[in-house]
Amino acid sequence: MRPIFLCGFMGCGKSTVGKILAKKMGCQCVDLDKYIENTAGMSIPEIFDKYGEEHFRKLETEALAAFADIGGVVATGGGALLSEENGNVAKRSGMVVFIDTYFNTCYGRIKNDPNRPIAYNSTREQLLERFDYRRPLYLAHSHYVISGGYPPIVIASKIQKLYK
Ligand code: S3P
Repeated sequence: MRPIFLCGFMGCGKSTVGKILAKKMGCQCVDLDKYIENTAGMSIPEIFDKYGEEHFRKLETEALAAFADIGGVVATGGGALLSEENGNVAKRSGMVVFIDTYFNTCYGRIKNDPNRPIAYNSTREQLLERFDYRRPLYLAHSHYVISGGYPPIVIASKIQKLYK
């Protein structure tokens, strides 16, 4: 099946919604970060520490391209659909849904999370700045926007209805 890419800021609910949606649709759910960790044999913080963010972005771009071909529900990382290149790959190959969740909700979920190096190493103000910078890019690179204020099951149902 054509892939469904879920995008949005860290903590917006991509992975939670992705699992529910895949179950409803009877397909696999790929968490892009977990896939990268499994293939690299190390955690995201380790990849950032050892090789830097740029290298992580390269792995992320490769993984995204692979799943554009493979299909299924793909919960992307919060930085995966920012570049024009990745945005185009996702938009062309499948359906892209932006889960638009308020900053405060995201922040409550991601603050001090050692598994999210960007969140862990940023102040609230820095993350808010990043959020404001990214939101228009998520909007530009998605076909549909769904408010992240709904419960995950409701978001999943809405996405399922939109899928053609
Ligand atoms: C990142 C988000 C993370 C992960 C990495 C970088 C980002 O994924 O890909 O830590 O730049 O927003 P989540 O959105 O699942 O936290």
